[in-house]
Amino acid sequence: MSDLIRIDYSGVFPFLKEAEIEATEEEVQIALRTLATGQGAGGEYTGWLRYPESMPASELRRMESLAEEVRAEADAFVVIGIGGSYLGARAVIEGLSHSFPSLLSPDRSKAPLVFFAGQNLSGSYLEELLEVLEDRSVYVNMISKSGTTTEPGLAFRVLREHLIERYGREGAAQRIISTTDAARGALRKVTDEEGYRSFVIPDDIGGRFSVLTPVGLFPIAVAGIRIDTLVEGAASMIEPCGRPGLFQNPAALYAATRNLLLEKGHSTEILVSYDPKLQYFAEWWKQLFGESEGKDGKGIFPASVLFTSDLHSMGQWIQEGRREIFETVIHMDEEDSTLQVPVDASGLEDGLAYLEGRTWPEIQDKAYEGTKMAHHQGEVPVLVLEAPTRNAFTVGQMILFFETACGISGYLLGVNPFNQPGVEAYKQNMFALLGKPGFEEKAAELQASSQDLSGGKLV
Ligand code: PA5
Repeated sequence: MSDLIRIDYSGVFPFLKEAEIEATEEEVQIALRTLATGQGAGGEYTGWLRYPESMPASELRRMESLAEEVRAEADAFVVIGIGGSYLGARAVIEGLSHSFPSLLSPDRSKAPLVFFAGQNLSGSYLEELLEVLEDRSVYVNMISKSGTTTEPGLAFRVLREHLIERYGREGAAQRIISTTDAARGALRKVTDEEGYRSFVIPDDIGGRFSVLTPVGLFPIAVAGIRIDTLVEGAASMIEPCGRPGLFQNPAALYAATRNLLLEKGHSTEILVSYDPKLQYFAEWWKQLFGESEGKDGKGIFPASVLFTSDLHSMGQWIQEGRREIFETVIHMDEEDSTLQVPVDASGLEDGLAYLEGRTWPEIQDKAYEGTKMAHHQGEVPVLVLEAPTRNAFTVGQMILFFETACGISGYLLGVNPFNQPGVEAYKQNMFALLGKPGFEEKAAELQASSQDLSGGKLV
């Protein structure tokens, strides 16, 4: 069994022809070179491509040692951030932690409970978080590359006040760790003024590609996950994902096939996982591809499902709805459970005797095989990401694999995969509506707008 993740593309036939994939070889090589040389659109943000190899060892050690301090002192660790400054950390932490961390007995739970804030504008979410934090020893990691994002900025203001009230201004400063730009932004300024300990986000790495920088690595280390192993896993994929041959390079092959499927009308890609712990990995993946490719009227719509749960909700649509989807399934060669179906000693006839003695992973694997066949027969092309097992090394590989595939795919599609101009539209309107200084013109424009979306057609 290989210890590298691989892509199985046998399920794209007969929806694609082998010759069609082969015909993309030259185009893919151009995209690969464009990415590797940083010559393409947004090329100044491709630092993530080599960062797992080039990251200073001292930076990794500093993260580990500060994480040790937080683990020793804190019962609650609040990670504040949104988008690329949030999803990667959550994906890895939830992907590699116990399913019920808050309910583990204290002697089994050695890590502080990890909470997330600043990823929404729900007041009740923050109020309830404050309730939970009240009796706990709290540390905060405020993450923002720009240092000016409204949602995390507001959450930080509330949590900072909470810490100052409990520990005094100096005590709070000891418990706040910031992750931001080296020189720019409001967060850098506050960090320097208050003397917070901080990590720097490299200039050449954008938000959604930043999970393997301190943005993700520090909170992941606080959660007790080996960040050296995660980074090693990512580094092990740099060479395979840079190979020039299309059929030797899993990231290039994935990028090429998904673009061909798009050309044939498969405009929605569903990331499928069978492990509830990977739910946030799918959220991270959706941001990665959605924000990188959805522009200029182009892009595959990234969706996700969790099987077998969603086979009992979205399964019907996937099997028989509009035929414009394809699936990318994350399949683990080995599951870490040995749970077996027990023999029913009470003699009740529940219809499950035929499964006695079988393990959960064995049953789940049959569900996976059966579903893959059913969906393929239902005209859904199926790509499979084969991974050895769910651990830090594999998750690191999956991150680097998808990031590289996303860069190649964006260039094949003809977009800049490293910007997100469309994210500004809602912000401009929100700032204007909130009366932010400098947005007066926008506010007047909104007021004069003939399109009335303010509830005038309420039924
Ligand atoms: O991928 C991106 O660039 C975005 O999702 C950002 O990460 C997100 O908007 C948060 O930005 P910041 O880290 O500047 O607060």
